[in-house]
Amino acid sequence: MKDFKRYLITAALPYANGPVHIGHLAGVYLPADIYVRYLRARKRDVKFVSGSDEHGVPITIRAMKENITPQEVVDKYHAIIRSSLEQMGVSFDIYSRTSNPIHHKTSQDFFTTLYDKGLFEEKESEQYYDEKAKTFLADRYIIGTCPVCGNPNAYGDQCERCGSSLSPEMLINPRSALSDATPLKKKTKHWYFPLQHYEAWLKQWILEDHKEWKNNVYGQCKSWLDNGLQSRAMTRDSNWGIKVPLPDAEGKVLYVWFDAPIGYISATKELTDNWKDYWQSEDSKLIHFIGKDNIVFHCIIFPAMLHAHGEFVVPDNVPANEFLNIEGDKVSTSRNWAVWVNEYLEDFKDCEDVLRYVLCSNAPETKDNDFTWKDFQEKNNSELASIFGNFVNRTFVLMHKLCNGKVPKLHEDVMDDIDRALIADIKSAKTKVENALEEFRFREALFEVIDLSRKGNKYMQEKEPWKKKIDNGELTVDRKLVDNCLHLCLQLTANLTILINPFLPFTAKKMLHMMKVVDKMLEWENSGSIKLLSVGYSLRSPEILFRKIEDKEIQMQVEKLKNGLVQAENTASNAKSETQRAESVEPSALSLKPTIQYDDFAKLDLRVGKILSAEKVEKADKLLKLEIDLGFEKRTIVSGIALHFKPEDIVGKQVVVVANLAPRKMRGIESNGMILMAENAAGKLIFVNPDEDTDAGSGVS
Ligand code: 2FM
Ligand code: ZN
Repeated sequence: MKDFKRYLITAALPYANGPVHIGHLAGVYLPADIYVRYLRARKRDVKFVSGSDEHGVPITIRAMKENITPQEVVDKYHAIIRSSLEQMGVSFDIYSRTSNPIHHKTSQDFFTTLYDKGLFEEKESEQYYDEKAKTFLADRYIIGTCPVCGNPNAYGDQCERCGSSLSPEMLINPRSALSDATPLKKKTKHWYFPLQHYEAWLKQWILEDHKEWKNNVYGQCKSWLDNGLQSRAMTRDSNWGIKVPLPDAEGKVLYVWFDAPIGYISATKELTDNWKDYWQSEDSKLIHFIGKDNIVFHCIIFPAMLHAHGEFVVPDNVPANEFLNIEGDKVSTSRNWAVWVNEYLEDFKDCEDVLRYVLCSNAPETKDNDFTWKDFQEKNNSELASIFGNFVNRTFVLMHKLCNGKVPKLHEDVMDDIDRALIADIKSAKTKVENALEEFRFREALFEVIDLSRKGNKYMQEKEPWKKKIDNGELTVDRKLVDNCLHLCLQLTANLTILINPFLPFTAKKMLHMMKVVDKMLEWENSGSIKLLSVGYSLRSPEILFRKIEDKEIQMQVEKLKNGLVQAENTASNAKSETQRAESVEPSALSLKPTIQYDDFAKLDLRVGKILSAEKVEKADKLLKLEIDLGFEKRTIVSGIALHFKPEDIVGKQVVVVANLAPRKMRGIESNGMILMAENAAGKLIFVNPDEDTDAGSGVS
C-alpha cells in the first residue's frame, strides 16, 4: 500500500437551507470525524475541511418558503449548522462557506481554466420559462402531476410521494412554483462539460484501480459508467450563485454542483498557505466523506473536473454511507420527519457522546438503517452505561476501596492464565480497531472497543477482588490477587480511553481527568501497552460516564416527532388553502380538480351530525376537539377550525361529516372523520349544514 505523507479529509458541504439532522451526522460527519481523530492520534499530517453549501435551488426555495432573501437564509442556517456540528464534537480544521469571496474566485478561476482549454461545449436548449416572474425555471421550480402516481404536486426532478425520479418534461400540467403560471419553453445558452470524454479514464481509475472502494460506492459508479456518460450543463440561469466569468453570460451562474466541491479547495486555501501540499502533491491522500445521494458528484463529475484541470489530485477513496431512516420511515424535511441535531442538544444536555455512540454503532454503512428512540435508550442503558461505564466505574470504586486510590503493583509471580488472556486481549484490540478503521468499518471498530470493556467486566467477575478469605484467623482480601486485578483493570481503562477517543471524545476527556493524565496519553501508539499508568500514582474518584435515560424522555421524543409531523401537515394544508383562497378570488378553470366518476363520489359516506361539545387542543392553536353525535354513535373529530370559532359558539350546531374517513392521530388524539366547511373569498369558514333541523345520522348525497 502506498505511504502517504498527508491526508485531506473532506465532509460534504451541507446546504445552508435548514438545520442538520441525525441522518447527516450518521452518514457523513461522524464517520469523517472518527477517522480524522484516529489519524491525528496516529500523528498523521491531516486537515479536515467542510463548510456550508450556500448556492443552488435548495437555498432559493427555502427563501421563497420563509419569505426572506437567499442571503438571510444562508446566514441563518450557516450559523445553526456550524454550531450544531461543533457542539457534537465534529473537529473540523475549518468550517467555511461558499459565499466567501475566496470561494467565488477559486470557482471562477477553475471554470476559466477549463474554458481556456476549450473543454466546455456551448449549447442552446429550450427550457421552461415563467413569463410572469420573468425567469427560467430550475427543475425544483416546476410543479405538476406525477405521471407515475398522480401526485398533483410533484417537482420537476422528483415526486416526493412515490419517489420517482422525473424531468420537467414528464410532468402533466406543469406550473411555475413562483407564480403558478403555466411555463413556456424558451431558448437559453449554457456551458456543458462533456463527461463522456472522460469515460475511459474514469473506468480505468475507478473500476480497475479502486476495486477496494465500498461495494455500494463501486456499484453505483459502475452502473453510471456502464450506462454511458453525457454532457452536463455546468451553468444555470439564476441570480443566486457565482457569476459565470464570461462576457456573454449575463444572468448566468455556475451550477451548484460545479462550485460546491470546489469549496473543499477554497476552504483548504483559507485554512493554510500550504494548501497546494494537500491538493497538488501526489503524496497527499484525499478522502471524501459523503452520503449516497452525492456519489455521482464526488466519484464521477468532480474527479473528471479535477482531471481535466490537470493540477489536482483525485480522491483516493469516497466511503459514502447509505441513509438513516427514523422510526421505520424515510427522513423527510418537508414532513418534519427528522431528529434535528440542534434540538437534540437542547433536550439531552451532556449526552453528545450517547448520540455519537448510537449513530456509529448503527451507522448505515452498507445498507439503509433505522434509528428508533427505543434503541437509542437501549444502547445507552444496556451498552454504554451497563458495560463500558460500569467497567470503568467498578475499577475506580474498587481501586479506591481496596488500593487507597493508587495504582497497585503487578505481582508477576502470581499471574495466571486469566491475567495473561486479558493482556493478550488488550494487545489484539488495538490491531482489530485499527484494521477496521483503516477500511472505514466504523461500526465494527466501535464494537471491538465495547467488546474489550465487556472482557474487562468478565475478567473482574472471574477474579472477584472483593472476595474475603480467612488468613491467620482474620478476614482479609487476597492482596496479590487484588493488586494484579486492579492493576490490569486500570491499564485496561487507560487503553479503553485511547481506543474510545475517536468515537466518544467527550468521554475520553472525562477518563483522562479521572486518571490525572494528559492528552499525550491518547496517542494511538500507546494502545496495547499495559504500562500506561505508573505504580503508586494516585487517581481521582470516578465520575459517572453515562447516566440512565428514562422512559419518559424517550416518550417525549417520540411524541415530538409525531407532533412535528402533524404540524407540518397542518402547515401544508394551510398553504394549500391559501392557494385555494387566492384561486377563489380569481376563479379559474385551472383550479378545478380533475373529473371523477360517480363511483368515486359514492365511496364517501356523508352524514348529518350534531356538535355535542368542543374544546381547544393543548399546544395546537388551530385545532378543536369535537364530540359529534351521529345518531347511531358518538365520535371524536379533531378539526382545524380553532382560529375561526370559539368552542362555546358552535356547540349544538349541525354539521356534515365524512363518516368513513380512515382514523388519523393529531396531537395524540384519534380523529374519526372530518366535518365539511365552506370558505369564502375572504377566507372565512362557514359550516355546511342542512337548512332545517335534521336527525343526526341522516345520509347526505
Ligand atoms: O447534498 C448536499 O447537501 C450538498 N450540499 C452536498 C455538497 S458536497 C460538496 F460537493 F460540496
Ligand atoms: Zn409520484
